[in-house]
Order: sequence, then C-alpha cells, then structure tokens
Amino acid sequence: MQPKIFASFASTHKQLLEEELRERVNKLVAPSVVKEAMLYSLEAGGKRIRPLLLFATLDAFGLDTKKGLLPAAAIEMIHTYSLIHDDLPSMDNDDLRRGKPTNHKVFGDAFAILAGDALLTYSFQLIAEIRDEDAHATTKLALIQALSQASGAEGMVGGQVADIAGEDKDLTLSDLEYIHVHKTGKLLECSVVAGAILAEATEEKIQRLSKFAYHLGLAFQIRDDILDLEGEEERIGKRVGSDAVNKKGTYPSILTLDGAKAALSEHIELAKAQLKETGLSTHMLEAITNLIETRDH
Ligand code: IPE
Ligand code: IPE
Ligand code: MG
Ligand code: MG
Ligand code: MG
Repeated sequence: MQPKIFASFASTHKQLLEEELRERVNKLVAPSVVKEAMLYSLEAGGKRIRPLLLFATLDAFGLDTKKGLLPAAAIEMIHTYSLIHDDLPSMDNDDLRRGKPTNHKVFGDAFAILAGDALLTYSFQLIAEIRDEDAHATTKLALIQALSQASGAEGMVGGQVADIAGEDKDLTLSDLEYIHVHKTGKLLECSVVAGAILAEATEEKIQRLSKFAYHLGLAFQIRDDILDLEGEEERIGKRVGSDAVNKKGTYPSILTLDGAKAALSEHIELAKAQLKETGLSTHMLEAITNLIETRDH
C-alpha cells in the first residue's frame, strides 16, 4: 500500500478523534481544574496508535470507521489515564510526557490522580452512550467487558503491578513477557478486538485478530524499551534512561540491545503471519504494524 494512503487515513482519523475528545471533556459539568487536567494530557499529542488500530480494524471489515469514534475515544482516555498514573512520583516518577511536563508537575499529585480516575470512568460512560444505530446493547456490553478486562487487574493494571513489584529484581524472560503483555499488550489487543466486536465478527476472526494484536502489543513495548535507551528525548517526548533509573527489567536488560531487536523482529513477523490468515482487507493494519517496528517515538 502507498504510504500516502495510510498517512491520510491516519491524519483524518486523528483529527476526528481529537475533536471528539475535546468536545466530550468540554461538555462535562465538573470543576474546571479536573477538566483542564484531563484535557492537558489528552491534548498533549500522542501517536493515537490504539484508536488507529480500532479504525484500521473497522476498515479491514469494510465498515464505516466513524462507528468507532466513541470506543476509540474511550480507549485513548484509558491509555492517557494510565500514562498520568504511570508518571506519578510513587510509580515511575517522570517529569516529561508527550513533550510537556507531566500532569502531576502541573496540577499536583492529587489532581493528577483524580484526572486519571475521571478519564477511566468517563471512558465507560462514552461506550454506554454509543448510539443504538452504531452498536446494539449486546455489542456495547461486549465492548465494556473486553475493555474492562483489558484495563483492570487481569490486564493493564496487573502488568503495572508486576512492573513495579519487579523493580530491582532479577526477572526471567517469562516474568518480563507477563509484564509487557499485560501493561501494554492488553490495551493494544483490545483496540483491535473492539473493532472486531463492532463489526460483529465471528469468534474465529476475533481469535485470529487477537493473536495478531498479542504479538503487536509485545513488539510495541519491546520497541518502547529500546527507545528508552536509544531514543532522542526531543523525539520521544519523554526522558531517555528512565528504566535504568527505576531499575526496571526490560528486554534490552535481559537480552541485550541486539537480542531485544531480534525479539522485536520476531514478534512483528508473527503478527504479520497472523494478519495474513484473517482473510480480511488488512492494508491499514499492516501499515500500523510496519510503523510499530520502526517507530522512533
Ligand atoms: C506509551 O505509550 C506507554 C506504553 C504503553 C509503552 P505510547 O507510546 O502509545 O504513548 P503516546 O500515546 O504516543 O504518548
Ligand atoms: C507503561 O510502560 C505502561 C503503561 C502506562 C500502562 P512504561 O512505564 O515503559 O511507559 P513509558 O515509557 O513511561 O511511556
Ligand atoms: Mg511504567
Ligand atoms: Mg513509565
Ligand atoms: Mg517505557
């Protein structure tokens, strides 16, 4: 596929998503400081990979991608909440995110925590508010089930807990795989699965896409670990070397940098192989896969 076609797909959908995020937060009847803190992190930029995965999955099924706007906004809100909390002094203690001071540096810890809580909660309200023409009640329920499982103790939160508990410990590769698959992989996987749920896909197609996204999510976090060593602060918009300061186990720390790069390529290849088996029109998903392999931010 021509890179131009994906670039235009990505920029159109990012714009739609960002308008939706802004409007939805603006219409909240709530203290202005919490709205400001929510918008501060939502509007700081970000690659919007998870929403793009959801839109690209709808595209693979030949559906109108606008159907995915609210679920995509919900997933980006959950992701943004996870970043706000991840940066807190009691977690990774970072001061730069998406090229700007972290949320707690601007609003203080209490409001950063509460802005995160508000984003998490609002995400489920957005799904409940999807119009019936875009998703039946049973589809909304399936979305809520998938998203809550991917974000909670069995998903992202579980991975974050294992990540913090593993600081300064000798982790095995399988410990680390658990961390990466959960703290990052589950929400990425859910972005693809949510698209398939909206498309009312068969269980077989959902399983195949899930396997694709499993490898993609793992690859995404391996690349994140590599960028923590090799990235440029200006480009990644966060501090380089944060993992070493926090004594995190990472793919490069266990496998060496070259070993981590080999693991990244391996998971990208496995992801692509699964994608081919779906029998869908997966050009956009393939373009995102290539982007994840080579991304520099
Ligand atoms: C950063 O996610 C945290 C991880 C899960 C690795 P992204 O790299 O998607 O961050 P943004 O959304 O582009 O800022
Ligand atoms: C973050 O992993 C995963 C979540 C926020 C859920 P990292 O701690 O490696 O992410 P960055 O590097 O701070 O973005
Ligand atoms: Mg972290
Ligand atoms: Mg972090
Ligand atoms: Mg990181």
